[in-house]
Amino acid sequence: MNLKTQTIVVLDFGSQYAQLIARRVREQKVFARIMPCYAPIEEIREAQPDGIILSGGPANVYAEHAPKCAPEVFELGVPIFGICYGCQFMCEALGGNVHPASSREFGNADITVLGKSEIFAGMPVDMPVWMSHGDQVEHLPAGFHTIAKTSTCPHAAIAFPEKKFYGVQFHPEVAHTPRGKEILRNFLYNVVQARGDWEMSSFVESAIADIRAKVGKDNVILGLSGGVDSSVVAVLLHKAIGDQLHCIFVDNGVLRKDEFNRVVNGYRKAYELNLIPIDASKLFLDKLAGVTDPEKKRKIIGHTFIDVFEQEAKKIPNAKYLAQGTLYPDVIESVSAHGGPTAVIKSHHNVGGLPDKLGLDLIEPLRLLFKDEVREIGAELGMPESLIWRHPFPGPGLAVRILGEITEERVKVLQEADDIVMQEIHAAGWYRKVWQAFAVLLPIESVGVMGDERTYENAVALRIVESLDGMTADWVKLPYELLGRISTRIINEVRGVNRVVYDISSKPPSTIEWE
Ligand code: XMP
Repeated sequence: MNLKTQTIVVLDFGSQYAQLIARRVREQKVFARIMPCYAPIEEIREAQPDGIILSGGPANVYAEHAPKCAPEVFELGVPIFGICYGCQFMCEALGGNVHPASSREFGNADITVLGKSEIFAGMPVDMPVWMSHGDQVEHLPAGFHTIAKTSTCPHAAIAFPEKKFYGVQFHPEVAHTPRGKEILRNFLYNVVQARGDWEMSSFVESAIADIRAKVGKDNVILGLSGGVDSSVVAVLLHKAIGDQLHCIFVDNGVLRKDEFNRVVNGYRKAYELNLIPIDASKLFLDKLAGVTDPEKKRKIIGHTFIDVFEQEAKKIPNAKYLAQGTLYPDVIESVSAHGGPTAVIKSHHNVGGLPDKLGLDLIEPLRLLFKDEVREIGAELGMPESLIWRHPFPGPGLAVRILGEITEERVKVLQEADDIVMQEIHAAGWYRKVWQAFAVLLPIESVGVMGDERTYENAVALRIVESLDGMTADWVKLPYELLGRISTRIINEVRGVNRVVYDISSKPPSTIEWE
């Protein structure tokens, strides 16, 4: 019997943690999808949820324009788990009430579990949790009882077991709630009766079947970048449709050292991909000549890429689809912190507008997945760790790391410096521990001495950051010896550089890239 994959719908009330909740659920091998709280009940029904999680959110449930979900959600007959605002909302919606707390709770708190409940099964009576709220439940709706409290929050967790409704005032999804994962797991496995059927191996199987059914005998075009997402799409599609997949890889003149040859040879050999390498470096560098404005550089690279890609794509017969490595965070429609809807659609793939221009339909086999799941799929497909764990690399490449004018010579200087950073970071075992590590060529020259001569040469900045998703980041406290080695090697080995500095800014307010 082919059972439908069980689904948890996370209704987003504007929480900064909605994606985190979905990821935590999927880590427990249960599929979760995020829908805005205002999703019509028909859409929620169509998703066939086996359980619903109501997220937190910054609003006050009693405020005039507080975000709400369709009241029929409570009549679907499926288990519901409310978190923070979600818990308060459930109370308010079912006849209880919520008031500003006499003392607001932000940060660590200790809960005491009262009696037995499915949610806290197998857990200690006292445990630390992470709170972040100014309001709290005052009167419970009929049918509910309290299953945990803190010294200042009398209803820290509530339950209506007959209906399978549960609510917690704290945040089980964040790492600061040490037993949070087990609490979510208890909801999934004790209350929802999850089967744990969200597995990457079965995802690969069904994705391959879907791709075959959709594509038939037509051809698919993919812009390969050498990054994790497009590589996984390439290998997945190749497995599904073999040589009907045509990968175009464009050298835009601002790739890392040897990247073009490495990708072309590597992918042809390891995966026998039908790969069309296009060396357009001269065209890109000609167009970039004399341009120093960062936004102009990005635009020129984006437009030139589309032109080059379009020209090549048109040569492929029977092409009906364009494949892209779009991920779930790019397609989630989320709720803004102010309660209103905001469409979160990023155009980081640098091929915006291409499908329309080429008259192609899109294939996005990763559009339901988070990055960690894409990596798991890469491993499932037998791809090497070195590829699966590659650092992100921006579409406009080294162009956004060469401040000022881009010339062939300056690209070479940065490629050499960047290559040394890579070598040393790998050799010291730091590659997997950091989010990104790279060199930036600054548009200044400074004085130095070499032998008896005064020099006047380039300065290079090192940018090495840790981050979870690129949205926020901090500089990495690398050992001084490692920084020293990188600096010495760059100054000795890269002609034209006499100074190396370390970027110690965090994001925000800085950004990861320098342009
Ligand atoms: P920032 O510089 O905004 O970068 O802190 C955040 C993350 O996004 C990457 N990045 C890009 N990726 N096209 C991309 O594909 C781009 O134009 C682009 N700009 C920045 C950056 O490397 C970091 O991981």
